[in-house]
Amino acid sequence: MNEEIKKVTHIDNVRLSDDGKSVVIIDQTQLPNRTEYLTLSTGKDIWDAIYKLQVRGAPAIGICAGYGIYCLALQIETEDYDQFLAAFHEQKEYLNSSRPTAVNLSWALNRMEDVVKANADKPVKEILGLLEKECKAIHAEDIEMCRKISEYGLSLLHEGDGVLTHCNAGPLATSRYGTGQGAFFLAKEKGMDIKVFADETRPLLQGARLTSYELSKAGVDVTLICDNMASIVMKNGWIQACMVGCDRVAANGDAANKIGTSGVAILAKHYGIPFYVLGPTSTIDMNCKTGDDIKIELRDPEEIKEKFYAEPVALKEVKCYNPAFDVTDHELITAIVTEKGICYPPFTESIAALFR
Ligand code: MRU
Repeated sequence: MNEEIKKVTHIDNVRLSDDGKSVVIIDQTQLPNRTEYLTLSTGKDIWDAIYKLQVRGAPAIGICAGYGIYCLALQIETEDYDQFLAAFHEQKEYLNSSRPTAVNLSWALNRMEDVVKANADKPVKEILGLLEKECKAIHAEDIEMCRKISEYGLSLLHEGDGVLTHCNAGPLATSRYGTGQGAFFLAKEKGMDIKVFADETRPLLQGARLTSYELSKAGVDVTLICDNMASIVMKNGWIQACMVGCDRVAANGDAANKIGTSGVAILAKHYGIPFYVLGPTSTIDMNCKTGDDIKIELRDPEEIKEKFYAEPVALKEVKCYNPAFDVTDHELITAIVTEKGICYPPFTESIAALFR
């Protein structure tokens, strides 16, 4: 394997600490200027890290929550099953309240709670052992899923293609290769010529700070553009496909992803460019019939006004609307790529088939 690429893909963005009692993450808010690690030991540490986007990206949030609830379970001081379950549930609900849109958060927490519920007859000590196995399994499965998604993604690209991507769905947001951007690392490994155009992704610049950083460190040909430049690069004929990750996909294929994604999909439709959404089946929420059922996180206006330049870019009193995600209508999506295969329209049928 190419060592340059491995240094980017095989990182410990989320892991258990050496003593197995805390979660260690790379603080993504410090990148690309500093690689700093944070040790999260309390419920508040974990909640804050997710809320503040120190750990972010749907799969990475799920993995962090899995490890996190396990570490919090270790701190519950009782041998009594009912008391243990009640305390576990309280911590789970607390972590689940940190961000609403990425379903991987509740998915991982529910999976951990199911372990507790399915083992009511066992001593608490044994349940803790099973929880440790489960959070490690969530992580290991994600590594496997990302690899498969990236391979399916690569099968949709051709030598010399230009691909536009939005936000960050690479190694930092997932495990190893990533989802929406995994095909770019694989292409590089295989010596294929793919030119990536990365939207900077306002307001918090995940595309500039994280995507262009990861791809350029791995030696992928990446060009950073401002979000409002997507149309011109498409019109110039430089883009043959769009690839993005996702935070929650409804049963009909409507897909929530970072704010601005739906605009890219509308442009792609205009220019006749295929638009691909890539993510694990854990990001599909069959309880959401359509995108209207997906809760969109609203974030602090200060992210728009204060965090961009060294100085504020707007007056303090200016009103802001700061949704973190938008939903791309399924009619704009060419295919949804999962670890189980590629779903094409009609999505209601192809997505349902994944779960049969
Ligand atoms: O607010 P963020 O940075 O967590 O938003 C992340 C995204 O929208 C990603 O594209 C998505 O989570 C997929 S990550 C594989």
